[in-house]
Order: sequence, then structure tokens, then C-alpha cells
Amino acid sequence: MSQQQSGKRGAIPSMETSGDALTEDTVVVVLGASGDLAQKKTFPALFALFQQGFLPKGVHIVGYARTKMDDDEFHKRQTKYISPSKDDEDLAKKFDENIKAFKSISSYVAGPYDEDSGFQNLLKHVEDLEKDRKGEKRNRIFYMALPPSVFTVVAKGLKKNVYSKDGSNRIIIEKPFGKDLESCREMMTALSAEWAENETYRIDHYLGKEMIKNMLVLRFGNVFLDASLNRNFVSNVQITFKEPFGTEGRGGYFDEFGIIRDVCQNHLLQTLSVLAMERPVSFSAEDVRDEKVKVLRCIPPIARKDVLLGQYTASGDKPGYHDDDTVPKDSVSPTYAAMTLWVNNPRWEGVPFIMKAGKALNEGKVEVRIQFKDATQGIFNDISRNELVLRIQPSEAVYMKMNAKLPGFATRAVPVELDLTYKKRFTDAKIPQAYEALILDALKGDHSNFVRDDELDVAWKIFTPLLHWIDGKEGEERPKPVGYEYGSRGPKEIDDFTARYGYVRATGDEYQWPQTNVAASL
Ligand code: BG6
Repeated sequence: MSQQQSGKRGAIPSMETSGDALTEDTVVVVLGASGDLAQKKTFPALFALFQQGFLPKGVHIVGYARTKMDDDEFHKRQTKYISPSKDDEDLAKKFDENIKAFKSISSYVAGPYDEDSGFQNLLKHVEDLEKDRKGEKRNRIFYMALPPSVFTVVAKGLKKNVYSKDGSNRIIIEKPFGKDLESCREMMTALSAEWAENETYRIDHYLGKEMIKNMLVLRFGNVFLDASLNRNFVSNVQITFKEPFGTEGRGGYFDEFGIIRDVCQNHLLQTLSVLAMERPVSFSAEDVRDEKVKVLRCIPPIARKDVLLGQYTASGDKPGYHDDDTVPKDSVSPTYAAMTLWVNNPRWEGVPFIMKAGKALNEGKVEVRIQFKDATQGIFNDISRNELVLRIQPSEAVYMKMNAKLPGFATRAVPVELDLTYKKRFTDAKIPQAYEALILDALKGDHSNFVRDDELDVAWKIFTPLLHWIDGKEGEERPKPVGYEYGSRGPKEIDDFTARYGYVRATGDEYQWPQTNVAASL
């Protein structure tokens, strides 16, 4: 960030001062280069950064995986899911040229994950690329797009064989970080024996999403919001994740983990921690993460009575969860979960934070909905509650549901909204994909949007007892999820569940989006 930008009104200096930015002399090694994650997320993100000139000068990208292939075949796979930019015409026009250039800086090495010889070959390749460097430094970033079974052995192999002695080394890893508190600690201990905390970047890609990054500015940059987000005004909070598709093709992986490990323990808990944390001393990485850990430590383990589990069943031509060939026929792994968490601190005590996540539902949407308490009774006859909604996806938006007098001679209050829909307000905004934002942060040496080791530990403490019960590890029968139809809103029990925690659902005929017809409302 330039001096000039830092001086602008509204600048957030502590967000701009990053650690040790890598601007040149860098090789990015993508481990697991022939796999799904690398092809669908890592390479498209690297390309997006490359075409906008955000990668270090003279950068090289090296793919490493077990599959034997030549550079041509690697380039085909590397660019399989990359398409021209939809929101930048100039970039779209230069697409072919940029893809060619991207391929020219990318190469591939095949080798095993568990033998030094493979990593020594990789080192040789990387050193060849670094040969004609002008600078003294040899910076290396290792992106682990790998299954967890090989995380530790690869991290060790890299440290032993490919670690740069005269530059920065960074390792980027992604969930699953174990399956419970104990296995996570085991994995983290093994990793931290090789890689220092400041070299380690743990991705939770939700932290790279625009609206999550916006939360701290919204909360602490707006006095009226900061003042009202607490137990005196808020009745309940809902964090909702809905996907319109089932496990299609991923049943094998999914069944072992279930929706709670897949989405709630990480993405939704991260969202909760940013939403509920106290104001940090500054927006620098450690100050933000200190506050996140602090608020998470105020949350006791989730109680069984605060949980509703579901599993989708067939509907029309849509398959049920058990119809997936990779799923055991008697699986009780939840594909839907609703649970209430309690934050026992002076700001939030008694306010239910309801997390809901499900696959194979009626729509795809992620949002945070903060519902305020009722206006004091006496002068209104049944008036709607205020709600602050942060829509994380699709189509980022912040809107506040409020009441206004129906215009004209009528004396009636109707629900309306203050609407900040990004597409309307920031017409030319180019919102980066989460992985682009995070890889750029890692290059800058900024840890703010990565998960710290103690954050992970406390996150697992909140979820482990519940997960052990679901896994049948408590010596009791495993809880059986209730059924819900593919394409529905989820289990029919969900409305009673949220009502139990004080949520009042607006009735459809009362609230119309995006316009209220005055005549029809009289
Ligand atoms: C992943 C989960 O971490 O997040 C997937 O493993 C889920 O099951 C995905 O679909 C959701 O990410 P996004 O960015 O599409 O909301």
C-alpha cells in the first residue's frame, strides 16, 4: 500500500502494514498439483493474481505431485478451470496472451510424498529456476493442496530438503486440521516441530471472503452498530449456510467428516468469532487473532439439547444421501445441522448464536442475520422486529430491516430496509475470490486472515464433545438424524428449533422485497 493511499480518509493503517512482503525472487511450489483443490482453486487464484500483476516479479510456479506427466499435460490440467475475467473487459481481452505467459512461468516435477529423493529432485528443479536471480534471496512458498494423510510427512520432507537457507519460507495448509481436539493437536505438534508459527499460513477460505473482511469495519467503524450489537438489544443471531446440491461425487470424503466438521467447526465458527469479538487494539494480525481467541474461549462446548441433525432423502429425480454409492447405506452422518452456541461474556451472555448448515437444500446462500428485540409494546399493534442481515454470498449485501410509516394518509408501520447491495452501490467493484485474497496476504506476510494454532485448539474444544457423541465415541448409540427432502428448506423441525431460541420469522405477506406496494398494504 503506498504512502499516498495510507494517508487517505478512512485508511486503516494497521491493516496495511503487513509483515515481510515478497516482491521478487520467489518460487511458489504447489504440492498436490494434479488434484482437485489445486486445479479448481489454487491455480485459478494464482492466475488471477498473475494477470493483475500481483505476483512477485520474476515468480516461478512449480507443480509437484505423484502423477507422472510432462509440462504440456501439466499446463492442460493447471488451466482447466481458468476462464476469462467476467468483470474486467481489458483482462478478458488479454486472456490468451496471459494464459500463455502463465504457462511459461509454470513447470512440473513428479515425485513421491514420502521419500527424500522426490524432494531432492524438486530442490534441484527449484534451484535451476533460481540460478539467474539477481537478488541474493531465495524465497519459497509451499502450497499444500494435499489430503491430510500426507500433510505431516510432506511438511517434514520439504523442511528437510527444500527449505531455503537464504530467504523466506512459507507453508500454506488447509483443513481438515484433524478430526477432533486430540488429532488436531497431534497434527499441529508434528507440523510445529518443523515449521515456525510465523511461517505457517492455515487457510480457512471464509476469512478471504469480502463480507467477512468487511465485518470489522462495519462493526467498529459505525458507532450506532457497535453500540447496538450486544445483549441489551439483540434477541438472537443466525449464521446460515445453505447449498443447493448434495454430496455428489464427494460422498466418500464427506461421510467421514459430516457437515459439522465440513463447514460449522471452521467456516461458520470463524464467521461467529469475527462477528462477536471485542474491538481489537489494532487491526494487525496478532491483535485481531487475540480477540478472536478470547471470544471463542467464552463459548462452552455445544450441548446436545441445543442441536438438530438432519440427513437428506430422495425427492423427485434427486437422489437421497444414501443413494450416493460412496456412502454406507446405514450412514448416520449428518448433512444438515443446526446448533446453538452461547457466548458467556458481558456483551453476549444469553444471546443465542444459532448456526445452521445444510447440503441439498432449496437454495445456495450464506448469511448472518442479527435479530433485534421487540420494540416496547404499548403504542404499536404487532410491529416487525429489526434485523441486520449480512449476505456473504451470493451477491454481497448488508441490509437493515426496519419499520417506517406507510407513506400517505395511512398511519401504519410497515417493514422496509436500508439496503447496501454491493452491485448497486459499488458498480465497478471487482471482488476477488477468497483464495486470491488469501494467497496475496500470504505473499505479503500478513497473517490476519489465517487461523492461528490456539484458535484451532479452542475451536475444537467447542465441538469435540458433540462430535464424539455423533461418532458414537461416548459409548452410546449414535444419534439418528431426521430426514429432509432434497431441495427443501431442511428438516421440518427447524422452525420450532429457531423459535425455541427466540427467533421470530417474518411472515411472507407482511414483508415484500424489494418494494412495498402502498395500495396493497393499506
Ligand atoms: C468447503 C467444504 O470447505 O467449503 C465444502 O468442504 C463446501 O463442502 C465449501 O461446499 C463451501 O465454500 P463456498 O466458498 O462455496 O461457500
